[in-house]
Amino acid sequence: MSRLFSPITLGNLELRNRVVIPPMCQYMAASDGLPAPWHHMHYGALAISGADLIIQEATGVDAIGRISPNCLGIYTDAQEAALTDMLAGIRSFSSARFGIQLAHAGRKASCEPFDSYVYVPPEKGGWHPLGPSAAKHGDSWPLPRVATQDDLREVIKGFAEAARRADRADRAGYDLIELHGAHGYLISSFLSPLANRRTDAYGGPLENRMRLAVEIARAVRKAWPAQKALGMRLNGTDWLEGGITIAETAQVAARLKEEGFDYVALSSGGNARGQKLPPIVPGYQAPLAQEVRATAGIATMAVGMVLTPHQAEDILAEGKADLVAIGRAALDDPRWGLHAAQALGDEAVYPRSYWRAAGRVWPGYAMLRSAPVA
Ligand SMILES: Cc1cc2nc3c(=O)[nH]c(=O)nc-3n(C[C@H](O)[C@H](O)[C@H](O)COP(=O)(O)O)c2cc1C
Repeated sequence: MSRLFSPITLGNLELRNRVVIPPMCQYMAASDGLPAPWHHMHYGALAISGADLIIQEATGVDAIGRISPNCLGIYTDAQEAALTDMLAGIRSFSSARFGIQLAHAGRKASCEPFDSYVYVPPEKGGWHPLGPSAAKHGDSWPLPRVATQDDLREVIKGFAEAARRADRADRAGYDLIELHGAHGYLISSFLSPLANRRTDAYGGPLENRMRLAVEIARAVRKAWPAQKALGMRLNGTDWLEGGITIAETAQVAARLKEEGFDYVALSSGGNARGQKLPPIVPGYQAPLAQEVRATAGIATMAVGMVLTPHQAEDILAEGKADLVAIGRAALDDPRWGLHAAQALGDEAVYPRSYWRAAGRVWPGYAMLRSAPVA
């Protein structure tokens, strides 16, 4: 059996393989944050991808925490009911596990993703964003409203209430929560010295910059059943001098472990303009997962340009991570996991209706891969 298709346990969540579909915003929600037919199609397709864990896109814990006016939310009864309905539908045909990424977009909120992520002002259906300091995200953006301690208390409450809703949804609820602590959104912007210039207890040394992350982590751990799987996505680097370092991120991860977190996912960037990106080669962020895994002793998820089953297998075999997330490669091929299992010699569990397309029964499967039909 390959490592990629060997089981792993996070909290009380038993995953049958280590292929994860990471959160990927669809920007297709109605303006009230409700899932649309697109979400049913998208998550339904990924639920039969062969990945055993699908993490729902960044889902706002309050209205101004959404990345765009068309992002999902989980802060109203109507949203909770609609997500419940979506999950129940998908679970009627798939036993894949569902996680949800809870997010507050902070100073990067209210953007138009299909138009170069420009800021959407209130008169066009957007809102004024909230940030750690009076520092803009970019030229088209207003100065964020600087979060007061009361605002932060509300944000923390919002995350905890969203976790309660995520537990209730579909009775059995989501199987896992991932907090979005990467890409320059609220938690990430507090962690990074590039965005956080506060002089109070939430700014300055790492201990202060990680205070919001830890307070949210603690509140969510309390609101989410003790054994249910919980993780956070973090930036391993901002790709800019003066940004968060991998050594700091490892300290945050170690603290999250103490708070009862089961894993961290390592991503990077998005905190400030002028990033000095490295060559975006397959697995380019996996060394970040490796460093945190080795120093913080917490399970890690690698993500970023993992394209082939063998690349994913190597990341696990080399001890860089415990789970591997497959994003765009799964948008390109929504049966990525089924194909990966067959490439690595493992059993691919096809949905019943599709069994005649499996490699062991359909000669076309091998023909298609070795010599594409003209
Ligand atoms: C369409 C799209 C939407 C994304 N939305 C999110 C998101 O909601 N939350 C998040 O943490 N990352 C998001 N990402 C980043 C992915 O989770 C992933 O880290 C990134 O695509 C790199 O992995 P890949 O090379 O396998 O695609 C998004 C990426 C894409 C392509």
